[in-house]
Amino acid sequence: MDPVRNPFAPGAGSQPPELAGRDEIIKDADTALQRVLLGRHDKSQILLGLRGTGKTVLLNKIEQLAEQHGHLTAFIEAPENKSLADLLYPKIHQVLRRLSMIESARAAAHSAMRSLRAFASVFNVSVGDISISVDPEPGVADSGNLEYDLSDLFVRVGEAAKSAGKAWTLLIDEVQYLSEDELAALIVAVHRVNQKNLPVMFFGAGLPQVAALSGDAKSYAERLFSYPPVGPLDREAASAAIRQPIADEGESITDEALQFIVHRTQGYPYFLQEWGYQAWNAAEASPINSDDVEHASTAAVRRLDEGFFRVRFDRLTPKEREYVIAMARLGTGPYRSSDVAELLGESVQSLGPRRAQIINKGMIYSPAHGDIAFTVPMFEDFLTRTYIDIG
Ligand SMILES: Nc1ncnc2c1ncn2[C@@H]1O[C@H](COP(=O)(O)OP(=O)(O)OP(=O)(O)O)[C@@H](O)[C@H]1O
Ligand SMILES: [Mg+2]
Repeated sequence: MDPVRNPFAPGAGSQPPELAGRDEIIKDADTALQRVLLGRHDKSQILLGLRGTGKTVLLNKIEQLAEQHGHLTAFIEAPENKSLADLLYPKIHQVLRRLSMIESARAAAHSAMRSLRAFASVFNVSVGDISISVDPEPGVADSGNLEYDLSDLFVRVGEAAKSAGKAWTLLIDEVQYLSEDELAALIVAVHRVNQKNLPVMFFGAGLPQVAALSGDAKSYAERLFSYPPVGPLDREAASAAIRQPIADEGESITDEALQFIVHRTQGYPYFLQEWGYQAWNAAEASPINSDDVEHASTAAVRRLDEGFFRVRFDRLTPKEREYVIAMARLGTGPYRSSDVAELLGESVQSLGPRRAQIINKGMIYSPAHGDIAFTVPMFEDFLTRTYIDIG
């Protein structure tokens, strides 16, 4: 059918035509955002899920809701090699500038700006074009200890937001790439603003290992945050994710074809978009049928292999590749680290650093002690069809 009208949106962070199966997460976030504005406490949240399950899309949605409710927002994606201080600086600067334009918050925003300046200089933030003309306030956010200073800074921003009758929402994507110190400092800072009942909310998103990381970082993180799981869609939601966008375009799909897509994708959002996209293009006319989906599957698998799967595999060194291919040889995960070691003819200890490196790259995680699994759904199938000669 007409590719110009194709409603599906495979791609990192692309807004899906139908945000299926996430009503509860959205409702909870919406409630929390409203409560905070009323001076009531609610938990900050870290969305956890595998690659391509829709975490970024949800964070974007939450940011949009926050703005609708009158929050000032700051959205950050943590890269692997930039400090949290560097990432926060321009965002907090922008929030404070907006607050300083509100009469009732001018003084508090000014004071927060002074803290931000102290913070930037003590953590050697490269301020670029965004310099601050006010003098830093001695003794605030300038100890050089990230936990203390980030807490001071968040408190000042929270006070400024409160004076304006507003709230501040910080959203951080790819939380697993923050260092343990940064994550710990973030947790402490959120805890601090909570204790002071300031209107600050934090929403994070990351790979499943973040739950363990943040538990290590601060033991009270478990009580402080909720960790909504962002998993594959159930059958009903997965069907809606395909059916609804097609119907919205005035077209249709047979039940059999729909079930085929749900089955092949196992309800994983990224795969659903890819299959929907290819099935639409493969079909001559409505309704899209099973033959169309069959044709589309070849194209969908090829596109995923060349894109979604490939970009992740390419980030590994040859030694790391050997490790993940050994995992795939063992079948479907999770895997015992000891089984992988045995297959590679090495000891678990000697492979430890390599395993840790692959975890740091966000390719695998440890769902339980001694176990490992891929963070990318169906990655073992990709490795098997691409690199393992099954004959
Ligand atoms: N609830 C949903 N229903 C249908 N499609 C969705 C849904 N959520 C996300 N998608 C689609 O899935 C794809 C992946 O979404 P997104 O980039 O948000 O995932 P992610 O979890 O952030 O992945 P990564 O861990 O790789 O960053 C996008 O094409 C998006 O349109
Ligand atoms: Mg993402």
